[in-house]
Amino acid sequence: MDKLMEVNNLKTIFRLNGKVLTAIQDINFEIYPGEVLGVVGESGSGKSLTMKSIMGILPENAMIEKGKVLYKGVNILNLKEREKRKLRGKEISMIFQDPMTALNPLRTVEYHLKEVISRHQGGGKLYSREKAIEMLKKVGIRNAEERMKQYPHEFSGGMRQRVLIAMALSCEPSLLIADEPVTALDVTTQVQILNLLKKLQTEHQMATILITHDLGVTSDMCTRVIIMYGGHIMEEGTKNQIIFHPNHPYTRALLRSSMDREKGVAKRLYTIEGYPPSLYEHLQGCPFEKRCRFASEKCRNEVPEYQYYEDGHRTLCHFRGEKLDER
Ligand SMILES: Nc1ncnc2c1ncn2[C@@H]1O[C@H](COP(=O)(O)OP(=O)(O)OP(=O)(O)O)[C@@H](O)[C@H]1O
Ligand SMILES: [Mg+2]
Repeated sequence: MDKLMEVNNLKTIFRLNGKVLTAIQDINFEIYPGEVLGVVGESGSGKSLTMKSIMGILPENAMIEKGKVLYKGVNILNLKEREKRKLRGKEISMIFQDPMTALNPLRTVEYHLKEVISRHQGGGKLYSREKAIEMLKKVGIRNAEERMKQYPHEFSGGMRQRVLIAMALSCEPSLLIADEPVTALDVTTQVQILNLLKKLQTEHQMATILITHDLGVTSDMCTRVIIMYGGHIMEEGTKNQIIFHPNHPYTRALLRSSMDREKGVAKRLYTIEGYPPSLYEHLQGCPFEKRCRFASEKCRNEVPEYQYYEDGHRTLCHFRGEKLDER
């Protein structure tokens, strides 16, 4: 099967108070049609920024310094703004982390939906209205015709998230990027929304990048997983490789602290002692070195290279997983 998207050596920097800070670097991954790629990592690890770099929607003080994003073989970072806009929404859609900031409080839900539909699909007013109703029904909003006359603040958090999903899916994108679509919601609503995403994903053969803090969500939804830390991809593997045979000390620490092994379920909160590196730190070695129980002199001084295992499984570490087992 042909790759849908390939990200090559992506590096994004910030300019802040006269300093240049590297936020993400050496980001390489690919995604195939129909698969769900999970992106997991602590707050500040660069998950959202990676996706914003891909979508070309970075904050003003950020810049892509190097890399390529090949979508269906074309480097979309080189497209003109007009072409990028066309691609966003139609081919690649994003559900943002905070549903309130993605909706205009002064516009009705109907306006939001009709706007994306008419922008990307054309069709008359009647068409976009009917499609809007259809999409709201699809995401489980009852009395859609009535409810879409309301404003975002008249919707609950879970309902707003559904509106965003309806907007993102209305043009049947080939790739959906969902940035923590359920983190802010209660558990029941989380399950409903994730089931909905699963259903729509199989119906449309859409590829999905699912960003989450939650390894439970990952094991439920994803085919492959990327673990991010300090702006790097620390480990990548299939869901089973990551959950059952993690080879990076960071992934192992994450799993130890977030999975209740006896019950085989995920706990919602996890802690690993210490803090992730700040962007201001100039790291000479591995970004995880300070918190890693296996760290050695080499880890402090030398940037690690990837270790490769079977089926694309890889870790950014000086040590192989088998060697860590012995220590
Ligand atoms: N506008 C900005 N100016 C300066 N630094 C920023 C800006 N936005 C993000 N950053 C920094 O870039 C890094 C990556 O941020 P990013 O939002 O990608 O993290 P994240 O993994 O999505 O975290 P979270 O789980 O909290 O959403 C962080 O260190 C963050 O502080
Ligand atoms: Mg984020």
